[in-house]
Amino acid sequence: MEEKKIMLSGIQPSGDLHLGNYLGAIKNWADRVDAFDCYYFMADLHTITVRQNPADLRRRSMQQLAAYIACGLDPEKNTLFLQSMVPQHAQLSWVLSCYTQFGELSRMTQFKDKSAKHKDNINAGLFTYPVLMAADILLYQPHYVPVGADQKQHVELTRDIAQRFNSIYGDVFRIPEPYIPKAGARIYGLTTPGDKMSKSIPEGCVFIMDDPATIARKFKRAVTDSDRENCVRFDPENKPGVANLMSIYSSVTGKSYEEIEKEFEGQGYGVFKPAVGEAVIDTLRPIREETERLIKDKAYLEQVYREGAQKASYIANKTLRKVYKKVGFVQI
Ligand code: TYM
Repeated sequence: MEEKKIMLSGIQPSGDLHLGNYLGAIKNWADRVDAFDCYYFMADLHTITVRQNPADLRRRSMQQLAAYIACGLDPEKNTLFLQSMVPQHAQLSWVLSCYTQFGELSRMTQFKDKSAKHKDNINAGLFTYPVLMAADILLYQPHYVPVGADQKQHVELTRDIAQRFNSIYGDVFRIPEPYIPKAGARIYGLTTPGDKMSKSIPEGCVFIMDDPATIARKFKRAVTDSDRENCVRFDPENKPGVANLMSIYSSVTGKSYEEIEKEFEGQGYGVFKPAVGEAVIDTLRPIREETERLIKDKAYLEQVYREGAQKASYIANKTLRKVYKKVGFVQI
C-alpha cells in the first residue's frame, strides 16, 4: 500500500477560535483527514510573543483541543498535540535560527504588523517567530501545510530555510507546499471588510463558541457596501463587504459565486445578510455543542494530548537527531 502523504498545521491559542480560523484552516484539515497522515497542534509557544494571561492561555489551549476534535479531527486518525509538550520544536528552532538571515525575518509582514501593534514589547521572540514555525513544520517532514493566505509568507520562508539547509547537508528536510483553500483563505472582519477577521475586532469577528443569537446579530450588522445597487454580486474591489459575505457563504454551503448571485437575484442585502448568518449558525452549532461536551471530559482530553505528544515527539526526534548529526554535534 502506498504511504499516505503528510499534512501539518497549527493555530495559536492566543484567542478563542473564530470563523477565519475555521474556514481558512480547520475546515480544510477536517475535509482531508482520511487521505493524509495529519499532525495538528496548538501553537502555545508562539502565543507568548505577546503577553498572555496564564490561566486564559491554559483554558484556551484545552478548548482549542476540544474544538479540533469537535470539528472532525479524530485523535485516533490524527496526531493532536500541544507544541510546548514536544521539546524538539524549541531545539530545532535554535539550529534553524543560525540558518536564517536577519533581513529575511525583517521582511515578514506579521512581524511588521505585530511590532506596530505592540510597540512596548517588540521582543526577540516576535522577531524569530517564523523560525519556530519553520521548526514546527520541518520536524514532521510534511508534504503540505494547510493554512490561510496570511501564513503563506511564513511557509515560503520555511521552504527557503529548508532548501538552504539541504544544500549544505544533503536531503535532510522535505520541502513543504502551502495548501490554501479556494474559498475562505482570507475572511475579513464583518465590520471592517478591509482587515482580516481577527479577535482584536470582536464585533466583526464570529467566534466558534458564539451562540446563534450573537452570530445572527453580528451578520445583521455586517457592513455591506455604500453603493446604491443593493445587489448581491461578486466584486471584491468595489463591493468588499458583499464579496466577504459571499466567500463565507460559498465556503459553508459549497455553492459557487454564480450560484449565490442567482439565488439572491432581485433580493437586497436585507435578505442576504441574515441568510449568511443562518448558514454559519447551522455550520457552527454542532461544533459548539460538541466542544462544550468535550471540554467537560478532562480525563479524555488529557489522554488525547498525552498520546499526541508521545507520537509527535517520536517523529520529531528522528528529524532532530538527523539535524544534530549533520551539523556536527556529538551523538549519545
Ligand atoms: P494563527 O493562529 O494566526 O491562525 C491560524 C490559522 O487560521 C488562519 N486564519 C485565517 N484564515 C482566513 N481568514 C482569516 N481571517 C484568518 N485568520 C487566521 C491562518 O492562516 C492559520 O492557518 N503562525 C501561525 C500558527 C503556526 C503554524 C505553525 C501554522 C505556528 N506554527 C506551523 C502552520 C504550521 C499563526 O499565527 O496562525
